Amino acid sequence: MHEFRYLRNNLFCERVKVEDLAKRWGTPLYVYSYKTLLDHYWKLKNAFREINPLICYSVKANSNLSILKILVEQGAGLDIVSGGELFRAIKVKCPPKRIVYASVGKTEREIETAIRQGILFFNVESVSELENINRIAERLGKKTNVSLRINPDVEPQTHRFITTGKLTNKFGLDFQTAEEILKKREKYLWLKIKGLHIHIGSQIIESSPFVSAIRKLVSFHRQMKEEGIDLEYLNIGGGLGIIYYKEKPQTAKEFALCVIPILKETQAKVILEPGRFIAGPSGILVVKVLYIKSTPSKNFIIVDGAMNDLIRPALYGAYHEILPVTKFQNQKSKIKNQKYDIVGPICESGDFFAKDREISPLREGDYLAIMGAGAYGFSMSSNYNSRCRVAEVLVKDDKAYLIRRRETYRDLVRNEVVIDKF
Ligand code: LLP
Repeated sequence: MHEFRYLRNNLFCERVKVEDLAKRWGTPLYVYSYKTLLDHYWKLKNAFREINPLICYSVKANSNLSILKILVEQGAGLDIVSGGELFRAIKVKCPPKRIVYASVGKTEREIETAIRQGILFFNVESVSELENINRIAERLGKKTNVSLRINPDVEPQTHRFITTGKLTNKFGLDFQTAEEILKKREKYLWLKIKGLHIHIGSQIIESSPFVSAIRKLVSFHRQMKEEGIDLEYLNIGGGLGIIYYKEKPQTAKEFALCVIPILKETQAKVILEPGRFIAGPSGILVVKVLYIKSTPSKNFIIVDGAMNDLIRPALYGAYHEILPVTKFQNQKSKIKNQKYDIVGPICESGDFFAKDREISPLREGDYLAIMGAGAYGFSMSSNYNSRCRVAEVLVKDDKAYLIRRRETYRDLVRNEVVIDKF
């Protein structure tokens, strides 16, 4: 469910006409619905009410400061993966005790800043990293909390690029190594090992992979407890899938019903790290049709947005629904009942939003909405082909707020240095 609906053939975001936003701020343009964002946060929060987990929104999904601020003000924590994300978290005044930090490659500087800030804990992914954090904590004279990220070796049945919980993936520690660390925990004088963490992948639409991973985690937690090692936190990561096409992902309630009984027996504090589930449905990318073109074998709709603005179709072959911002009826149109490739202007054949997509009649100059673009949309955008990164607008009820200005050509070259003579 989201707040993008047609009213008399015009697509609205809450109570604002998307076409008006496109005309006011230009295209390509990301548009987010405040209500959809909050609804999804609360759907999860309410579904898990019984065990009152800390929901650490995964910043990488959509790291716009306004989005973060809204969620932090609702009580969310943040799941971060870099010094840059920590900087954002601090900027929106997220209490450090609501920040968890995962990443297989945390640098010395990143670790130091996070220790100084006093985050809830690092999710540690290797023995070398653990030793490094211990050393840095000692140097700073500040005891630090860590949690062990376990690779539970489960198959999440999602795109191979976003699978993270198999032993062939670079993430986390296998159970045996984790056990060895826990048994020798006294050796890490400057660390307190507070919990266990898993994150098995993204866009997972069934609860069963989560259930098998959490079962493994809980049984390991129990085994450690029997050995006298009590771990206060269980962080079950993110990964909940959303509807892009005809998928029927588990609802927050269904997910909670499956996993709460397993988690409850541990009496540990639970953490969730959803990104896509919260931000995905709340955003669209609005693009303008530049040209409609037919070749002897294909029809193309060329739009002003491109793979640098939304890379998911190019990178994962991801499906995003594409809707006309204004539906034209009984109108002469260049296209009817035909399939089109919807493509951008970038000089790569991988630059497409859809292949062989049947699309309702439209004309050059019309706007299209690429749905479900709130997560891993803007946050994965780039300046490839020297294209300016686009503007972002947040709609709340009947008001629209610019939450990121469109970049200018000046922004593109801001950090470049031209040497007079080599
Ligand atoms: N926690 C950790 C440790 C993660 O690595 C991730 C995502 C999340 C939480 C949040 O996962 P979510 O709830 O959003 O599924 N760019 C890809 C998705 C990559 C996900 C990376 N890690 C895409 O566009 O599909």
